[in-house]
Amino acid sequence: MKKYKTDIFTGMRPTSSMSIGNLIGVVEPTLRTIEDGSLGRPMVFVADLHSLTTTEPEDSQKNVIPVIKDYITAGLDPEKTDLFVQSQIADEVSKMTIYFSRLITVAELLRVPTLKEKIKKGQSEATANSLLAFYPVMMAADILLQGSKFVPVGKDQYVHLEVTCDLANRFNKKYGDVFLLPKPLEGGDPITVLSLIGSGKKMSKSEPSGAILLDDDIEVSLKKIKKAKTAFAGDMSEDLKSLKLIADYISSDEEKVKFESILQKHLDGQQVMGDFKNLLVEVLGEFLKDFQKKKASISDECVLEAIEKGGKKAKANAQEVLSEVENAMGMRYV
Ligand code: TRP
Repeated sequence: MKKYKTDIFTGMRPTSSMSIGNLIGVVEPTLRTIEDGSLGRPMVFVADLHSLTTTEPEDSQKNVIPVIKDYITAGLDPEKTDLFVQSQIADEVSKMTIYFSRLITVAELLRVPTLKEKIKKGQSEATANSLLAFYPVMMAADILLQGSKFVPVGKDQYVHLEVTCDLANRFNKKYGDVFLLPKPLEGGDPITVLSLIGSGKKMSKSEPSGAILLDDDIEVSLKKIKKAKTAFAGDMSEDLKSLKLIADYISSDEEKVKFESILQKHLDGQQVMGDFKNLLVEVLGEFLKDFQKKKASISDECVLEAIEKGGKKAKANAQEVLSEVENAMGMRYV
């Protein structure tokens, strides 16, 4: 491969619809790159094969269209973005996963910290299915089959990007230079929105009591804000910083000024976290109402049309890369 095929590439598992943390941490940085026009068309996909590691197929399949609608609602215009579903290119992803799997040892797979975490969460090595161990290998296949240059993802996914680079390097060393390595997206560290319950962990759909889910009943979400951890008067905490990230993302300029002034009072030692939350509840309520209305106006047909086009492009990229890979490896009968 002489040059990158895709400037910006990212994806999400359809285990449920999106949280506001996904919007701020992943969709927003992708949108910014489109707006400033420095990079080419982004490609964004729904990783339904990755969902099979933890979720029953029917549960994840039903979220595929809603997640794509979330992307479109958040501003990824299908005219300017290639959208697709991972299982549209299941053949190519599976082959690439097999070829990469022989370049990583069982011990290395078991050492990947995200696997250890999954196993800690109520599963054991005896019950976790083995696809879970291949998670990072399949992710490398996703990224490298599209010739991706930048991959905006949350910090928790960085280990998977490291595995991707390792696999690309190992392949190149063994069979000749086929892969260009993905790079971190410039512009500093990725933004992480924390769970609202003060666990210090990232906001995650798997801990719904601390997550603002875009599809949820709005009142349920607002209650979570009312209960959210903040900080003692005069203090800045990671929890409050994270609420401020949400506030910044959903506020108009005028509302931003209001938030700033409340936070200034807070830092001066006044008891104003109640005011902060009231304002946040008001602005977030409006934001969610707008989001849900906009999302409801997107038809399934529009999504299906978008993924048909996007899927063709993803397949063409993947087939090109795969044939270079198979040539380099000397696979004669594929
Ligand atoms: N692991 C990612 C997540 O859970 C989803 C994903 C799968 C992905 N393959 C990818 C993201 C390739 C970026 C690129 O968020």
